[in-house]
Amino acid sequence: MTFPTLSSLLFRRPLVAPAAASTATSLTRRAFHNTPLKMSAKLKPAARVSGRRQDVWSIINEAAAASPKQPIVNMGQGFFGYNPPDFILNAAKQALDKVDCNQYSPTRGRPRLKQAISDAYAPHWGRKLNPDTEITITTGANEGMLSAFMAFIEEGDEVIIFEPFFDQYISNIEMPGGKIVYVPMHPPKEGGTKTLSAAEWTIDFDELERAITPKTKMLVLNTPHNPVGKVYSREELQKIADLCLKNQIIILSDEVYDRLFYVPFTRIATLSPEVEKITLTVGSAGKNFYATGWRVGWLMGPPDLIQYVAAAHTRICYSSVSPLQEACAIGFEQAEKENFWSTCVTDMQAKMRRFNAIWDELGLPYSEPEGGYFVMANLAKVTLPDGYPFPPHVADRQRDFKLAWFLIQELGVAAIPPSEFYTDENAHIVADYLRFAVCKDDKILEEAKERLRGLKKYIQQ
Ligand SMILES: Cc1ncc(COP(=O)(O)O)c(C=O)c1O
Repeated sequence: MTFPTLSSLLFRRPLVAPAAASTATSLTRRAFHNTPLKMSAKLKPAARVSGRRQDVWSIINEAAAASPKQPIVNMGQGFFGYNPPDFILNAAKQALDKVDCNQYSPTRGRPRLKQAISDAYAPHWGRKLNPDTEITITTGANEGMLSAFMAFIEEGDEVIIFEPFFDQYISNIEMPGGKIVYVPMHPPKEGGTKTLSAAEWTIDFDELERAITPKTKMLVLNTPHNPVGKVYSREELQKIADLCLKNQIIILSDEVYDRLFYVPFTRIATLSPEVEKITLTVGSAGKNFYATGWRVGWLMGPPDLIQYVAAAHTRICYSSVSPLQEACAIGFEQAEKENFWSTCVTDMQAKMRRFNAIWDELGLPYSEPEGGYFVMANLAKVTLPDGYPFPPHVADRQRDFKLAWFLIQELGVAAIPPSEFYTDENAHIVADYLRFAVCKDDKILEEAKERLRGLKKYIQQ
């Protein structure tokens, strides 16, 4: 299936003022809008946004809307089911009263936020980053990464990403003409029968080295990892860094879950001054402050890299939302005093434990997360009923899509099929897994568990 065509948007006639419109005209108008129009080839959308197969989010939303089990318990998408703490919310409200906070911010971000980031990261970085040259603020981590690709990728340059990947990387790399080279993370062999640490998802470093060519310009790393929950070890990071140094590859280290780690967390940029020189590190206020809708992110790295990311960001959206940058600055300034960072970890770990108790109860294994707020459960032991009526666009996907559809229809629980984050070739690797987001209220987690108990009759131990 493809996205709906843009024809209805492109061919909309000027509307008659509502007061003057007769019932007959509005009926005609409605009929007009519902009739697909043939679009002239000249007006067709660019390939980069058209003709993609239906994405996981719309399949899951469609399944949720069609399910008889309303309301659905949404454990799918990674947004928080609760608000940022008051000290951050109040900072946002007060920012709206300040004249300068309602106007353009400097293209590289508000000085107060860059200073606050420099101060907040210093204990992890071992030094204070220069807020003017080593930090640039972006419209969420996602636009920051788009800016990084726009800044460094020319047509035909290759970018290595690990599977499973955060889905936005794909179009962000393809837009400037980059060619993606995929290297799979391998789940533990016993993942279908045993609960094991997410650390057991591994990279085959020979496979990684074979993926490097003279055209490899960048490598994207994500730690703590979505959806696996792995925090790359220092040794693994060193091997990746050595390969990148040897082959002069820019590392884009997506560390948006950098305040949610349950084992020691190393930032690849801090391994050595040489590695720091080739690394761009990505952060997200959305993930740090439970505010994914605020769209504030940042990239940190050496001035030689950051200046071009900032230049691309200026072309893409000029500057990022001002009052929420101010609120994030205050968030960083006050977080330690409010004990916020340690509360984040304790609270999320408690949610993980609370939710994962259901897998232990059902005898279904999962990957024990080392960071982030996602858990991958393995449902290999769940038998889907023969002849279950899956719609065609689900029937022709991996088993994880069928599992997700089944859970929504039969139990009213939404989860994400992770094969969406793999190439077709490697999608089978996660055919038995589903990703659940635990950043939800405890009562939602309890409701999800109660519903998941309905799986018992489909499980073969
Ligand atoms: C791994 C990863 N990177 C980046 C992002 C995007 O972050 P932001 O909302 O700040 O754009 C997400 C959001 O889910 C993510 O999971």
